[in-house]
Amino acid sequence: MKAASTLDYREIARRRLPRFLFEYYDGGSYAEVTLRRNIADLEAVALRQRVLTDVSSIDLSTELFGRRLALPVALAPIGLAGMGARRGEVQAARAAEAAGVPFCLSTVSACSIAEVTRGVTKPFWFQLYMIRDRGFMRDLLHQARAVGCDALVFTVDMPVPGSRYRDYRSGLAGAPGFAGSLRRAFQALQRPRWAWDVGVHGRPHHLGNVAPVLGKDSGLEDFFAWMRGNFDPAVGWHDLDFIRSEWDGPVIVKGILDVEDAREAAARGADGIIVSNHGGRQLDGVPSTARALPPIAAAVGDQLTVMVDGGVRSGLDVVRMLALGAKGVLLGRAWAFALAGGGQAGVAHMLRLIEAEMRVAMALTARTSIAAIDRSVLVEG
Ligand code: GLV
Repeated sequence: MKAASTLDYREIARRRLPRFLFEYYDGGSYAEVTLRRNIADLEAVALRQRVLTDVSSIDLSTELFGRRLALPVALAPIGLAGMGARRGEVQAARAAEAAGVPFCLSTVSACSIAEVTRGVTKPFWFQLYMIRDRGFMRDLLHQARAVGCDALVFTVDMPVPGSRYRDYRSGLAGAPGFAGSLRRAFQALQRPRWAWDVGVHGRPHHLGNVAPVLGKDSGLEDFFAWMRGNFDPAVGWHDLDFIRSEWDGPVIVKGILDVEDAREAAARGADGIIVSNHGGRQLDGVPSTARALPPIAAAVGDQLTVMVDGGVRSGLDVVRMLALGAKGVLLGRAWAFALAGGGQAGVAHMLRLIEAEMRVAMALTARTSIAAIDRSVLVEG
């Protein structure tokens, strides 16, 4: 199967990846109500078609955090993304760089900050989870700054991991030790192409950023047990001050879904926020980001840069999110699946499709620049 649209990559990834990995990327928490809402609410946002306006020249570029981007999108941080293809985060970062959009590396990535740095020539963003050991945090922040990461994305919606039952069924969670490894190896053998590309040639299979301090405990044996043991559930707003004292670049708080929290982030001096429910992977039952975004953008959009993720699968969805008030849109599963489906070329192709879809949406809503995309692009009511 060859991908003709951004949506095809999910099915391609399902056929290529071992079950435990596909379910990990694809799944949400509990009954996956929020995961479905993210998509359904965004799809329901109706675009207002306008005709006979001159749309011969459309400019998709924008500026975020002092950097000119070819498109108002970024690749969202995804844990274990690098297991989707050989040394996957490096491949994705290269595709993002060539397309002129930021790549955001997760704390819990397969490739380390240093490995991604060696693979690219321009800065990328780094995403931070608050780990109990603050000395380690400090070290990680300094590493990211030293290699020139130009923005820090601080994820705040995972003091504890969500209840992701698919991961228990597939054997990624709750299956430590030999039995779990055997189960995953069996799933990998059913995907020979992946087994050869990543299983054999994509080693080491560990969390590159934490391996130096945690050694063998940073592997995939039980990813979630590792998170529960090391993520800090005591993290609070005061930790933004800690981050500020260790990081002098822009700080973006990811995982905001409530106007009060957005105001607090602004009051504490965050440079940006990402309206996010973690792709429906944390608290099931919370609203979609398409619903949460407009009041948040109205409340704090003049104080900091409001971005969003969740349910964005096409260029049309990007335009919808911009119309709902976002200045930038993060793509998550869209790139994880494209990476699994085609490596660097797959991610590059997915970004070209997003761009082409955005052009069509802008032409037929009569917008020739990103700044011109506002609420009037939508059919209200
Ligand atoms: C990590 O960020 C995850 O959603 O699993």
